Amino acid sequence: MQTWTDYQNQHKDKFLNELIELLKIPSVSAVPAHNGDTASCAEAVKNALIAAGCTTAEVCTTAGHPIVYGEKMIDPSLPTVLTYGHYDVQPPDPLDLWTSGPFEPVITDGKIYARGACDDKGQMFMHVKALEVMNATNTLACNVKFIIEGEEEVGSTNLGKFLEENKDRLKADIVLVSDTSMISMEHPSIETGLRGLAYMEVEVTGPNRDLHSGVYGGAVANPITILSKMIASMHDENNHITVDGFYDKVVELTSEERTALNSAPFDLNEYKEELGVKEDWGEKGYTSLERTGVRPTLELNGIWGGYIGEGAKTVLPSKAFAKISMRLVPHQNSHEIAELFTAHFNKIAPNSVTVKVTEHHGGEPVVTPTDSIAYKAAEKAIETTFNKKPIPTRGGGSIPIIALFEKVLGLKTVLMGFGLDNDNIHSPNEKFDLVNYYKGIETIPYFHKYFAEMSKA
Ligand code: BES
Ligand code: MN
Ligand code: MN
Repeated sequence: MQTWTDYQNQHKDKFLNELIELLKIPSVSAVPAHNGDTASCAEAVKNALIAAGCTTAEVCTTAGHPIVYGEKMIDPSLPTVLTYGHYDVQPPDPLDLWTSGPFEPVITDGKIYARGACDDKGQMFMHVKALEVMNATNTLACNVKFIIEGEEEVGSTNLGKFLEENKDRLKADIVLVSDTSMISMEHPSIETGLRGLAYMEVEVTGPNRDLHSGVYGGAVANPITILSKMIASMHDENNHITVDGFYDKVVELTSEERTALNSAPFDLNEYKEELGVKEDWGEKGYTSLERTGVRPTLELNGIWGGYIGEGAKTVLPSKAFAKISMRLVPHQNSHEIAELFTAHFNKIAPNSVTVKVTEHHGGEPVVTPTDSIAYKAAEKAIETTFNKKPIPTRGGGSIPIIALFEKVLGLKTVLMGFGLDNDNIHSPNEKFDLVNYYKGIETIPYFHKYFAEMSKA
């Protein structure tokens, strides 16, 4: 019988070429003009699941983009691994900053460049290929279920309902996800937490129409100036967030937890150099790893208003806008934080303007256990293929559905990500190193093997 290694070595080109085809589909979930592409991407994922060995796979329609579900049940007495991933991608713009087309995958220096290469088509597809490896070599150790959605990048609005309506079909023992990153190939790691998200949009209105800035300027409040001041006041001199009640539910780490978190390899000078900044920034009293891993933040994602076209226009605009998102940590709730933000924003608005605040999609923070069988299986799988025990870390990003897997299905998650922080996810020139891709395909079958073995013991 063929070994995993034989099969993998013989099919390296196939694994790569199939990923390239998937990356060519511009499945941008945020842009309705791409709805046909998201639909055909869902179809392609379904076909890939069948080809890899799923006995059933289907494209499930939702009020938004379709969800792909597939499974192969081999023995009801064996544990079931539910793999989650997403086939939708972020918009590729700004296009002029890409070296090659975002949907024309190019391989340079052993890295594949395309939108979705890492987040999450490349990482999701490792699981499909790992299934192929196990299925072709007759070594499936667990029952497998796949749920690959098309709305992660727009807040997973319809997946929660799908979980509610398919509780029986989705019965499993663990959720396995590769949609996060590790420190480096030399320092493999497993993220053991994700932050939540509350995303707000604000509109500040001054005069009832755009005005001549000479005729009226100086006598009427400019909403851009007011909005800028309001935004600037949201961090104090220590870069603490000033939204009333924002930190009320945040729990400080114990000094042991802080020491453990900060023992992960991290070089601040390299970090600054890589990002082209002379100095780092953040909440006083916390390290960079703490600031992105276990502390909540408030970020401006966009700000606009007035004249931004070519040349100059002397205008005192009627309105100014901003998109502001907050990353949340355990015990903070996205809707509660949205309410606190709204109350605060209204409170600090001067009488010279009126404000409107709306809430976009959000998600709740999660912490995943490190003392579970599933975590230990992931740890052992990575140790097997990397020759190094992975370090537990806390990730700064968000995957809104993970909290719902626990809430709706009662399932814990293992975040076995193979991306790197410099993969440029959501940025121009997104890439995924081929060594990471192949390492993922190599490691995942060991997870299934060890999870089955350890569950029996
Ligand atoms: N895969 C990312 C999340 C991520 C990236 C977690 C790196 C940990 C490390 C995911 O696709 C993502 O981008 N999520 C969004 C949230 C969503 C509601 C738009 C995010 O974190 O901004
Ligand atoms: Mn992702
Ligand atoms: Mn993403």
